[in-house]
Amino acid sequence: MAEMTPMMKQYLEMKDRNPDSILFFRLGDFYEMFFDDAKLASRELDLTLTTRDRSKPPEERTPMCGVPYHSCDSYIARLIAKGYKVAICEQTEDPTTAKGLVDRDIVRVITPGTVMSASMLEEGKNNFLCAVYADSAAIGLCLCDLSTGEVFGTSFPTGEEARSHLENELGRFHPTEAVLSDGAYHLDGLTDFLRDKLDCMCENGGEGRFRYDAALPLVQKQFRAGLESIPEGDRAAVQAAGGLLTYLYETQKTDLSHIAAFSYYTTGQFMELDLTARQTLELTGTMRSKEKKGSLLWVLDRTKTAMGGRLLRGWIERPLLSPVQIGRRQQAVSDLYEDIITREELAMTLKEVTDLERLIGRVVYGSAGGRDLVALANGLGKLPRIRELLEGCSSALLQSLRGELDDLPEVRELLQRALVDEPPFSVREGKFIREGYSPEVDRLWNVINHGAELVADLETRTKEQTGIKNMKVRYNKVFGYYIEVAKSQTGLVPQDWVRKQTTVNAERYISQELKELEHTILSAQDQVTALEYQLFCELKDTVCAHVAQVQSSAAAVAQVDVLTSFAAVAAANGYCMPLVDNSSVLQITEGRHPVVEKVLKGTPFVPNDTHMDSGDDLCAIITGPNMAGKSTYMRQVALIVLMAQMGSFVPAQSAHIGIVDRVFTRIGASDDLSAGASTFMVEMTEVAQLLKNATKKSLLILDEIGRGTSTYDGMAIARAVLEYCADQKRLGCKTLFATHYHELTVLEGEIPGVKNYNIAAKKRGNDLIFLRKIVRGGADQSYGIEVAKLAGVPDRVIKRARAILEELEAGGGVQAAAPRPAEEGQVSLMDLGGQTVLQKLRMTDVNILSPIEALNLLAELKQDLQES
Ligand SMILES: Nc1ncnc2c1ncn2[C@@H]1O[C@H](COP(=O)(O)OP(=O)(O)OP(=O)(O)O)[C@@H](O)[C@H]1O
Ligand SMILES: [Mg+2]
Repeated sequence: MAEMTPMMKQYLEMKDRNPDSILFFRLGDFYEMFFDDAKLASRELDLTLTTRDRSKPPEERTPMCGVPYHSCDSYIARLIAKGYKVAICEQTEDPTTAKGLVDRDIVRVITPGTVMSASMLEEGKNNFLCAVYADSAAIGLCLCDLSTGEVFGTSFPTGEEARSHLENELGRFHPTEAVLSDGAYHLDGLTDFLRDKLDCMCENGGEGRFRYDAALPLVQKQFRAGLESIPEGDRAAVQAAGGLLTYLYETQKTDLSHIAAFSYYTTGQFMELDLTARQTLELTGTMRSKEKKGSLLWVLDRTKTAMGGRLLRGWIERPLLSPVQIGRRQQAVSDLYEDIITREELAMTLKEVTDLERLIGRVVYGSAGGRDLVALANGLGKLPRIRELLEGCSSALLQSLRGELDDLPEVRELLQRALVDEPPFSVREGKFIREGYSPEVDRLWNVINHGAELVADLETRTKEQTGIKNMKVRYNKVFGYYIEVAKSQTGLVPQDWVRKQTTVNAERYISQELKELEHTILSAQDQVTALEYQLFCELKDTVCAHVAQVQSSAAAVAQVDVLTSFAAVAAANGYCMPLVDNSSVLQITEGRHPVVEKVLKGTPFVPNDTHMDSGDDLCAIITGPNMAGKSTYMRQVALIVLMAQMGSFVPAQSAHIGIVDRVFTRIGASDDLSAGASTFMVEMTEVAQLLKNATKKSLLILDEIGRGTSTYDGMAIARAVLEYCADQKRLGCKTLFATHYHELTVLEGEIPGVKNYNIAAKKRGNDLIFLRKIVRGGADQSYGIEVAKLAGVPDRVIKRARAILEELEAGGGVQAAAPRPAEEGQVSLMDLGGQTVLQKLRMTDVNILSPIEALNLLAELKQDLQES
C-alpha cells in the first residue's frame, strides 16, 4: 500500500468517517466497494469479487466489487434488510469538467430507520426510527417516520414502571432502528428487548447527541408545531428528540422540513398494551407466522389508501381511553354505516388518492421525481370529491376532517399544466414538461425534433436570397453543417460566407446563420434537459411551500379512510355500535370472535354472552374440554373491548363497555407445546409483570396459568393468582381465567366475585359434540382422551389411556401396581420390567390429573418402557 492513488486516499478518508457503514463509492456508472466492504458485499449480495490491480502480487491487490448505479436500490434494500448501513458517496462535481481527481462526498447514509425509497418501504406500515434517552430522573422517547414526517415523543419518570412503559411503547411503534443514549444503551436488557423481540437495529449514540443545551435549540428550530404540549421541565423528551434530530442530520444531509409537527403524548392517553398482549391477541400479525392474514388488522382493514392503512395500524395499536373521543369516532362510523351510497362512493374515490404523506416527504427530502409530483397532483385532485361526499354527514368529526381537506387548487393546476401525464423515471433527461407550459422548452424540442426541416428551410431561404440554384446544405463529422456551392455559381456567394474546403466540382462554405442553426441543433438537447430540470426544481419549491397543508390534508384523508373502513367492515360483518362509558360494566350480548368467525369453514360461529362488573361478576373461571372454545371466548372478549375503544363497531348484537385501561394476557404453555416446560420461567415472569402493573380498571385474560410446571405447583400458583386478582383489597380487576384444574371451581362461593362458567360439550356414543355455548357452572369432565382421538392419536394408545383413566378415577390413587395378566394386544407393564413406570404411577394423584396430562403421562410411560 506504499504508493496509494489519490482516489484510494479519498476513498479511505470517506471510509474513515463512516466506519460502521458499507461505503458505496461512485465511479462512473457504478458504485464500487473496496477491501472488507467488498468482501462482505460480495458475500451478502452474491457479487463477483474482483480487483483493480492485477499487476501486483495477489496479497497486495485491493478486493473490489460493484453494482450499477441505476439498479443500486435493490442491492441497498437487501443490505439494509440484513441489518447493515450503507453510506452513499457521490461525485459532487461534473467529471467532464473536473480538473484532476473528481470531488466526492457522502450524500447520505441509509439505515433501516431512514429508508426513503418506495421499494424499501411497506405501503400500509410506518417505518420508525427511535431515540431513547435515560438518566437517573427520567426516560425520554422519541419516534420518527422519516418517510411521512410523523414524530411522536413522550417520557416517563424513572422508577419501577418506567421500564415496562418504555417497552410497551417500543412494542407499539415497532421501530426498525434505535439510537440510544449511553445511559439508555446500558439499561439492563433494553438492547436485548429491541434486538430480539422487535428485530430492531440498536446503536449506542453516546451522550453528546442527547445533551439538553444542544437538543433544545435543535428541537425548537425543527418543529413548527406541537412543542407547546411538552410539559414544563420535561427535559428527557426534548433530549430524546434532540438525539434523534442529530442522528438524522448526520445521516441525511438534506432538507428535512417535512418533519415539522411534534406529537407529544402521555401514557394516560391510550390504552397500554404490552408486547405479549399485542402478540397473543394477534392484533396486527398472527402468532405463528406474523402474517397479517388471520389477525385483527386483516379483518378490519378495508382502507383504500396507504395513509389509511398506516393509520389503522396506529389505531389498533393505540386504543383510546376517553369515551368522548371514542364517541366522536363512533358517530362518524355510524353516519357512514347508515349511508351506504356515501360510504361506497367514498371508498371508490379514496382508492384513487395517492400516498400524499410519503409523496410530500420525498418532495421535501429531494428524492422525488416528475412522477411523484404528478401523483401528488392527482391525489390532491380527488379531495374536492371527498369534501362533497362528506357534506351530508352530520358527525362533528367528519365535518372537521372535511374542513382539513385542502386540495391546493393553484398548486394542483400548476403541476397539471406543467407536467405530462406520465413523466419518465428520471428528471435528468427531460421529456416531462408539458407542451405549452414553457415557450423555451417547446422551442428547443421543436429544434430537436425538426432539425432536418430547419436545415431545409434555411436552404430554401438562402437560395432565394442569393439566387444560387446549385447549392446544398450538408453535414459531415469534420465540419458539421456546411453549404456546398457548385463551382459554376461561386460568384454569387455572399462576402461574409467563410470558405472551408474545395472539392473537384464545388466549394464548401459556412454562413453565420448556418453556424447559429448548427449550434442550436447540437446544443438543444443539453439545454432542454437542463431547462426542464430547472423548471422541475421550481415546481418542487412551490410544492414545498405547502408542506403543512398537504400533510394535514393527508392526515384527514387517512382518518376518513379508516372511519369508512370501520363502517364497511361493520356493515359487511353485522357489527353493532357499542355503548362505551366510564362505568365498570362489561356486557356483551351474542359476542363473536372477529377473526375466528371469518376463518371457520362449514360450521357457523356460535355467539356467546359476557357479563362482568366490579362486584359479583368480577372473575370468571372457565372450564370445559379441550377444543371447546375457552381460549377463543376469552380472546373474543378482549378483542371486542379493544375494538370498542378504537371507535370501531364490534361483533355482537349489543355491547356495553366500561373503559378498560389495560388488557393483559397470559396464554398458557398448552397453546405452544413446542416451547414446553422451558417457558415456565417466561410464563411466571409475565404473571409477575401483570400482577404488578394491572389496576382495578384492567382486564386480565389468563389462559391456563400454571400449565408449564408440575400439577401441584401449577394448581397452587393458579389458585393464588386468581385469589389475588379477585381480592378487592388487592387487585380486584376483571379476570377471565381458563383452566383445566377443575378443583379451582370450588372458589365460587369461597371468594366473592368469582363465578364458574363452562363451555359445554356432549358425548354421543363415542363421539364428542362441541356445543360452543358458555354456560354457568363448572365442567364435569375434560374429555381429553376424546380430543386426543379426534386428533388422530393411534387407537391403541387411546384404548390404553381410557383404561388408565378408569383405574385412576376408580382408585382415587394409583392401583396399577398390582401385576395383571397381559391382555391381547396390550403391553404388559411387568413383562417389560417397568419399575420406573410403576414408580411414576405411584407418585401420580388421579384427582389432580387433567386428561391431557394423563395422555402426556401415558406417552412418557410408554417411552420409559421402550427404553427399558
Ligand atoms: N364459539 C365458537 N363457535 C364455533 N367454533 C368455535 C367457537 N369457539 C371455538 N371454536 C372452534 O374451536 C377451536 C378450539 O377452540 P379453543 O382453542 O378456544 O379451545 P380451548 O377450549 O381453548 O381448548 P384447549 O383447552 O385445548 O386450549 C377453535 O379453533 C375454533 O375453530
Ligand atoms: Mg385454550
